[in-house]
Amino acid sequence: MSDRRPIGLFDSGVGGLTVLQSVRRRLPRESTIYLGDNERAPYGPRTDAEVIRYSGECLDQLVERDVKAIVVACNTSASVALPWLRRRTEVPILGVVRPGAFAAAAATRSGRIGVIATQATVRSGAYPAAIVDERPDAQVTAHPTTALVPLVEAGQHQGPEVEAAVAEALAPLLAADGPAIDTLLLGCTHYPLLGEVIGRAVGPGIAVIDSASATASALAVVLEVDGIAAPPDQVPVHELGTTGDVAAFERTARRLFGDAVTDVRQVRLPRETVGAGVGRA
Ligand code: DGL
Repeated sequence: MSDRRPIGLFDSGVGGLTVLQSVRRRLPRESTIYLGDNERAPYGPRTDAEVIRYSGECLDQLVERDVKAIVVACNTSASVALPWLRRRTEVPILGVVRPGAFAAAAATRSGRIGVIATQATVRSGAYPAAIVDERPDAQVTAHPTTALVPLVEAGQHQGPEVEAAVAEALAPLLAADGPAIDTLLLGCTHYPLLGEVIGRAVGPGIAVIDSASATASALAVVLEVDGIAAPPDQVPVHELGTTGDVAAFERTARRLFGDAVTDVRQVRLPRETVGAGVGRA
């Protein structure tokens, strides 16, 4: 059994492109449709009701495009909205939190794991719960960071301002009297775009993990088990869309996928009335 239809991925903005990159590497025959809700990024400081509603609108857009599986390539949406999203459609949905937690639990030796993520993700408690499911003796310190996503959305990936913001974000986890972590989990899909700066800031003694490749592997399993993988002769087609500024989105996408990125679509999402997404759960 095989299925030629595309896989849909969405995020509040450009962050999920880091997940898309891993999916394209791991599953080179699969076609994809990516949606970035850049107009409304960041999702992290928003209420749970807003995150659920916006995520539902992104989901509906991908379902309408007849995707065969959906990756919620946003930790904030996956932490807060996944149960609601799964009630909205029968299309298989995969989040990034469980795969990220699995990767971090597998990587740590001491069991002391630091997580940096958005406010909404930290508030949800999704990462500590998922990591402890994998490794019951883990000690997880989750720290909300507010400054990093706006920098990534603005196309700033290095330089003094980024270094200062990263140092401030990591300070509670790296303090001399802090939790002495051996693993840092990037619990927001935007953060791997700051990977160089983050790697320099933590130094060689701490493993830096993100959800992207673990999510791509989990997706491969879903496609296989459900019998919906692309056939061996498929030539993949990749579509990128944003609700925000096309040129800015294109610049970040080129950084990850090269100059072939030229035709980013402008997407207008039909808006629900406030609370509609929550009410449907
Ligand atoms: N990239 C998203 C995440 O993984 C969302 C960041 C945001 O919009 O605040 O959490």
